Amino acid sequence: MNEQSLTRRPSTSALDVSSIRSMFPILQEKVYDKPLIYFDNAATTQKPKQVLDCIQNYYSSYNSNVHRGVHYLSQKATDAMEDARKIIQKYIGAELNEEIIFTQGTTGSLNLLAYSFCQMLKPGDEIIISAMEHHANIVPWQIACEHKQLKLRVIPFLEHGELDLETFVKLISSNTKLVSVTHASNTLGTINPVEEIIRIAHQHNIPVSIDGAQAIQHLPVDVQKMDCDFYSFSGHKIYGPTGIGVLYGKKKWLDRMPPYQSGGEMIKEVSFEKTTYGELPFKFEAGTPNIEGIIGLGEAIRFVQETGIQKAATYESELLSYFTSQLKTIPGIRIFGEAPHKVSVVSFLVDGIHPYDTGVLLDKMGIAVRTGHHCTQPIMKYFNIPGTVRASLAVYNTSSEIDIFIHSLERVKKMF
Ligand code: ALA
Repeated sequence: MNEQSLTRRPSTSALDVSSIRSMFPILQEKVYDKPLIYFDNAATTQKPKQVLDCIQNYYSSYNSNVHRGVHYLSQKATDAMEDARKIIQKYIGAELNEEIIFTQGTTGSLNLLAYSFCQMLKPGDEIIISAMEHHANIVPWQIACEHKQLKLRVIPFLEHGELDLETFVKLISSNTKLVSVTHASNTLGTINPVEEIIRIAHQHNIPVSIDGAQAIQHLPVDVQKMDCDFYSFSGHKIYGPTGIGVLYGKKKWLDRMPPYQSGGEMIKEVSFEKTTYGELPFKFEAGTPNIEGIIGLGEAIRFVQETGIQKAATYESELLSYFTSQLKTIPGIRIFGEAPHKVSVVSFLVDGIHPYDTGVLLDKMGIAVRTGHHCTQPIMKYFNIPGTVRASLAVYNTSSEIDIFIHSLERVKKMF
């Protein structure tokens, strides 16, 4: 990208951003009597009215438990939940409906996967992750490694925030049983070359799990084309409700994996002599599911489909370039993560100002950002910093908001 295109304001011609903004009631809110500028989308995205209405409609007109009742309301709730599963299946290009497992979020998906997959392994087997993972893609593997006496190997990253693929290749051995890496870093913004990682791992018959928490809302995802074995994401980061997520897994793996949680709904037959487990996806969905969350997530995916994920991706990439170039005009800014392919996440520090102080002062100016280690302490250790300020943009953000942000950051600098 040349210098001119970097500083160019994003073109909104492909997307009607003001009409998108009008769909999000919270964007009309004021904080401290100032218009809200919400730049904390990597933590959670805001929800369009159609998602809020859909959840309200569920509770006010057909609230009921699913898969259990012969009555009208139960049938209606079951149909709505299973329709959502189909919408999600189609959206991520999964071959089969039963390959979509509902969880509490990406963390829930990764805990399920780490526990269940590692039950099939033996002492000395190895799992490869990367040094830019969110704690949710580190700690579940560490716990599984402890329980099963496995070894955890870590792919390092390079200074600009790109994975060191040469080292990755060297880490692979006949003991490697799974690779689990993030699609996009929540701190550095890096979009990892997941297709290449999968291709390399598959040459050695090693399955690959992708943490899609920070990619699903920004990029088109096709799990069959990507050929990943597992893909996890959260509803609340893709304009849906909190408390709901997805673990996609290829049927051949999910069939072999033992259940994670147990109880009602996941069984075929229970007796004191022997209990047998239900078919997919129910084997992994013990207990009453998060029905409102599932239905709300289906509606959020509809919103993304109507907006057009490719158009959103192009717009967000322009926002990112504009944001980065404007940020660099401020002396004393250090950006962490400058890989050529990034989602719209920018971590930075202002020379001499603690990230927490920057965040608090921006907040008073009506701007929401996240500060701290972003659940990626190994990244902080690599750069030898306590934390960063992170601005993360979504499809409803605008270049005018970026201008206000830059002006506000200049004001913060002057206060020190
Ligand atoms: N994982 C979320 C973030 O990066 C909460 O902010």
